[in-house]
Amino acid sequence: MLEKIANLLSEAAKEEEVKVTIPENPAFGHYSTNLPFEFAKMRETPPVEAAKDIRDRVAHLAPKGFFERVDIAGGFLNFTLSDKALEDEINLILKQKQDYGRPRMPGRPETIVVDYSAPNIAKPMNVGHLRSTIIGQAIVNILRFRGYRVIGDNHIGDWGTQFGSLLYAFKNWGNRRDFRKDPIGYLVNLYVRFHKEAEANPDLMAEARAETNKLQKGDRENRRLWREFVKVSLREFNKTYRRLGVRFNATLGESFYEKMLSRIVADALKKGVAEKEDGAVKIAFHDEKMPDIVIEKSDGSHLYSTTDLATIIYRVKRWRPVKILYVVANEQALHFSQIFKAAELLKIASETELRHVKFGMLLGESGQKMSTRRGEFIKLEELLDRAKEEAEKIEKRSAEKVGVAAVKYFDLSHDRQSDIIFDWGRALNLKGNSAPYILYTYSRLRSILRKAERMKKKLDLSLLKSEAEKKVVRQLIYFPDIVAEAASNLMPNYLADYLFKLANDLNAFYETSPVISAKKGLAESRLALAAAGSAVLKQGLRLLGIETLEKM
Ligand code: ARG
Repeated sequence: MLEKIANLLSEAAKEEEVKVTIPENPAFGHYSTNLPFEFAKMRETPPVEAAKDIRDRVAHLAPKGFFERVDIAGGFLNFTLSDKALEDEINLILKQKQDYGRPRMPGRPETIVVDYSAPNIAKPMNVGHLRSTIIGQAIVNILRFRGYRVIGDNHIGDWGTQFGSLLYAFKNWGNRRDFRKDPIGYLVNLYVRFHKEAEANPDLMAEARAETNKLQKGDRENRRLWREFVKVSLREFNKTYRRLGVRFNATLGESFYEKMLSRIVADALKKGVAEKEDGAVKIAFHDEKMPDIVIEKSDGSHLYSTTDLATIIYRVKRWRPVKILYVVANEQALHFSQIFKAAELLKIASETELRHVKFGMLLGESGQKMSTRRGEFIKLEELLDRAKEEAEKIEKRSAEKVGVAAVKYFDLSHDRQSDIIFDWGRALNLKGNSAPYILYTYSRLRSILRKAERMKKKLDLSLLKSEAEKKVVRQLIYFPDIVAEAASNLMPNYLADYLFKLANDLNAFYETSPVISAKKGLAESRLALAAAGSAVLKQGLRLLGIETLEKM
């Protein structure tokens, strides 16, 4: 709807960029614009004159009976939709259900690659990876809904020098039986032991380097062990993904690009973008704010940056994306600005926008890193187990689903760029801004719809006169606008905020507006509104990666 009004205005005023907003206060109509103000500035006419002029032209262009009123308020125009227009929109929800708000894009869809989750082999997934997974999946869902072809790529950290120490430790101290019991935990312990022993015996570092070297040269035993580490780690990660309901289109990982790395270094040298220094190869940016990056060490090994450059080349060639989005923690901001700059110098992604979609830290209740009750670093599986345990207190039958939903929603309801302090009480508060509250609202609506199963849903807006009913109608028509805004800003919290407001309005509605006992006509209209409300809640939650429950 917002887009429709923006288009009308843009045609009326012959302006490309027209900003239309959703006023917080219903007294200012359903939509508002300050276009007359801007228009007047440019043409040096009084804003009220400009407003009158634009209003008349819009009235001429708009379909008959579309607006109830268009008010002039200084340099603003406030649009109030007619009952007829609102009724058509709510009926559209009832007809399209989960497709309401999905734009119909002509032609071939554009492709966007989303790089998210990306945990590291032989290490547990941490809360940073959890945030990347949850936020990344929501962004994937939202962009797909908006009509893009989205490729979700899990760029697993499965290559690098850390494998040398692990290989040394496993070959010398490894015990298969213990390894099988808790593979990742066991590898982490080996890694820790290696570094402790290496402090006393620095020769071990050379041994580790030799193992890395053998691995990279293709030594059979090292390759076999490494593949096993990858396999057991992926198995653990997949358990978490199943619990979270997350899926990728590709899981290529850093090792996939190994064969491309030397060529990239050679190419960078040839293009004069990279230079040699003491046997190593680096890209110099000549910018004091941006440190240079090494892309090949003097021993010939490559780095995280080299792999990321190779990954860009591959993705551009394979998928021809208009954008590649990296859903990665704030901490890596410098890394990505270096990589993006290097890509620009190397001209490897001139048609593709590269963007770091940053997020802050997720901290435990004390403001520290998340930990277990015993004060140790918390594993993701333990976090999800705890979520289930907490959810059992409010919903026995579906505790796993509610627990996972609570964790996801808690994350997604915050501005992704800020650090957030996790709080079980708030995440599971049945009366607050939480997944359980929204899920409960949904299940209440479903229960009303089940009870009135035989009744027809027929909307007559002239019968829905109460404040509560009007608020729901008003809120529902904003769904497509909010999804569009969440997509263009890559901010899932816009959608979460909206769903909370809608749930509040729906709660007030069903508490004050009985269906079954209402008079004929009114009952059918309320039922239609309840059905539209439940459809939008369901689809909105689905975009956030949250499954609804029919009963709670
Ligand atoms: N594995 C990395 C880490 O855990 C994240 C990788 C993000 N993606 C990328 N293309 N660099 O820190």
